[in-house]
This record gives sequence, C-alpha cells and structure tokens, in this order.
Amino acid sequence: MKKSRRKFLETSLALGLVPIIDASPLKSLAPTKESTEKLKILILGGTSFLGPHQIAYALDRGHEVSIFTRGKTIPKVHPEVFSRIEQLVGDREDNLEALKNRKWDVVIDNSGRKTKWTEDTAKLLVDQVDYYLYTSSISVYYPFTGEDFSEKRTLVTEIPSGITEEERFTYEYGVMKATSEMATLDVFGPERSIIVRPTLIVGPGDRTDRFPYWLARIELGGEIIIPGDRDEVVQYIDVRDLAEWMIRLLENKAAGTYNGSGPGFPMTTNAFVHGIHASYSSPVKYVQIDDVDFLRENGLFAIQPWVIQLPEYAGMSKSDNQRALDAGLTFRPLSETVAATRAWWYSEAVPQERRDNILAGEGSLMQREAEILKKWRSSRRD
Ligand SMILES: NC(=O)c1ccc[n+]([C@@H]2O[C@H](COP(=O)([O-])OP(=O)(O)OC[C@H]3O[C@@H](n4cnc5c(N)ncnc54)[C@H](OP(=O)(O)O)[C@@H]3O)[C@@H](O)[C@H]2O)c1
Repeated sequence: MKKSRRKFLETSLALGLVPIIDASPLKSLAPTKESTEKLKILILGGTSFLGPHQIAYALDRGHEVSIFTRGKTIPKVHPEVFSRIEQLVGDREDNLEALKNRKWDVVIDNSGRKTKWTEDTAKLLVDQVDYYLYTSSISVYYPFTGEDFSEKRTLVTEIPSGITEEERFTYEYGVMKATSEMATLDVFGPERSIIVRPTLIVGPGDRTDRFPYWLARIELGGEIIIPGDRDEVVQYIDVRDLAEWMIRLLENKAAGTYNGSGPGFPMTTNAFVHGIHASYSSPVKYVQIDDVDFLRENGLFAIQPWVIQLPEYAGMSKSDNQRALDAGLTFRPLSETVAATRAWWYSEAVPQERRDNILAGEGSLMQREAEILKKWRSSRRD
C-alpha cells in the first residue's frame, strides 16, 4: 500500500471516519411493496382511527379484508377503501352471527372494549382463523412506577380500593386490556396470539386533540408553555407506522407480545416541540415550566404526549420498544406526521367546530395560557 494511502486510512480510522464493513448480510428495514402470501384478514372494528389505515395498507399489499362493526361509525379517513372490502354488521355485545361459519387467515381485534367481547370472539373464531392479533395498550402497565417498561413487566389485573374516580377510570381501562390479552392467550395459545401494546397513537383521523393541540398551538405562535423538564422524554406512534407494522406482523406470523411505541430514539420534550415548529413559520417563544405542583394546580398535567412526572405517570413515556424494532417496526420522521395530520386537520374530515374548540372552546388550554403564564411569573417573583 502506498504510504500516503496508509496514512489516510490510519488518520481516518482514528477519527472514526472509515465505515467498518460487516460481512453479515444486511437486514432490510424497508418493507417490501407486496406480501408474497395473500391473506384473508378480518378486522373487528375498522372504521374509526387505526382501522382505516390498516385496511388501506393491507389492500395495497394485496390482501383481502372483511370488517365487523355495528355500521354506526362513518369512516373519516381513507373513505375510498370501504367499497373494496366486505363489511359485516353485528354487535360485539350480543350479535356475532355474521362471523359464524366463515374462514379467515387472521383476525385483528381493534374494537375490544370489554374482556367478555374478546373472550367471545376468540372462542368463536378459534377454528376459523389461524392468528388472533389483539390491539392492547401500554395502559396494562398502569400505574407507571418503577423502571421496567418492557413486555416482561407485570400487568395490572385488579383495581385497588380507596382510589379517586379518575384513577378508577385509568385502572379499569388497564385491567380490561390486560384481561383481554389473557383471554386471547387462553384461547389461541402463545403460538397463535399476537399482542400489540401501543402508546399514544397520533396522526390523521385522531379522535382526540392530544397531538392536534400542539400543531394548532405552534401554528398560532406567541408565548407557548412547555410543561416539564426540557430533558423529559416523549413517546407517541404515528397511526400509519403502527397500522402497517401490525399487518406485517401478521404476514410474518410473528406470534408474541410487543410494545408499539416510538420514536426510535429518546425524544425530549424540547426536541418534540422544535421538531413540530420546523414545519411552521409562526414566531414563537417557549416558556418551560418544570414545577410539577404548579402545573397540576393549573390543570396542566395532561398536555399529551407530555406526561407530567406524577409518580403514577412517570414511566408512561418509557415503554421499551426494542422487541418491536427487532420485529420490523419503522418510524416516519416527525415532519411527515405533522404534514399528514395538518392536511387532515384542515380537510372536510374535521368539522370547523372542532378546530374552533381547540383554540377557544370551554376549558381550552390556549384560552387559559396567558393567565397561567402571568401566574407563573408572579409566583417566580415571590
Ligand atoms: N388512540 C390511542 O392513542 C390508543 C392508544 C393505545 C391503544 N389504543 C387502542 O387501539 C384500538 C384502536 O381503536 P380505533 O377506534 O382506532 O379502532 P378502529 O378499528 O378504527 O375502530 C373501532 C371500531 O369499533 C366498532 N365498534 C364499536 N362498538 C362496537 C360493537 N359493540 N360491536 C361491534 N363493533 C363495534 C366501531 O364501529 P361501529 O361504531 O360502527 O360499531 C369502529 O369501527 C383500541 O382498542 C384502543 O383501545 C388506542
């Protein structure tokens, strides 16, 4: 080797500039366009938020889709896909007739709101489908105390006594999701069950104003409260990343339990806000308020995906997504989530009343923000 080239390599290695060539084959993270095996997919639900994105992706990958709903919810995202699927009507409460004597390869249970609903459909479908995917939630980890938020964590299965109404509501949801997971596993066994535990889902079609709040707030500009420490982490998942990954888990027959959370790195609250602001040109000034008592007293503990560091919520943004990453979960950049959510927010799918409400409706944080800032400043002077 020429002296100059060796010198260059030595210097580059010292600076860490020369890539280390790994002889093992590269695992492609980019999903293939179409799946080779065409699946017949049944979705219990399918017309609200997550469902339409699952349907759009499944059809795009060449699968066949049936949905089962009461026929009440009118889909507001991907309305074009519904003429291309089978729409079965019934009620998980008391009418599963349309599901009897049929065959599918896999079922996705999105609409589980009661443990009994999942028990009933799992028992009914056990010989009619190969895999049961239950859409659970990270709420199975409530209260979010301690450090381990991997899939191995013990689940909440009982509601303790002596709790507040608000705590009861959170417990009930967590227990319902945990016991529904158990019902799935009891009937289908671990080899034929797929459990996905999403964190807060965001993106086009969101029925909550949690993520739209931040877009509307930053678009408005001015002084913006950022609650909590600047280094606290934020977790969320783009509904399209979640929906698409769930379909791929089914294609791969990837039985198991997975946390479905993003992004793929610890994103701080500051990075999250600045990341959103990169899509806007409004003049803004951020005011970081890290006094948890002050935030709580002023009703500011739930501007999600922020979660104020009350002991029972401290770990809510720390769910461990390594298993999901290993199983092919990929993430769009925040800018894409912002762009798609913004396009949907200003489309006919969202009534003007909802847009007005976030800015100035009763209890709107934006209405109260200037007042809270004033209080914050005067409390700092004391
Ligand atoms: N949003 C979040 O941040 C978040 C976070 C973690 C987990 N999750 C979980 O993610 C799942 C996704 O929910 P999604 O609403 O987006 O799902 P979806 O599949 O888009 O819609 C829910 C469906 O349930 C149907 N449904 C409601 N009651 C029914 C009944 N009695 N019988 C039959 N069908 C019924 C609705 O249609 P009809 O009204 O026409 O019946 C609707 O199609 C839920 O299990 C939720 O707990 C959500």
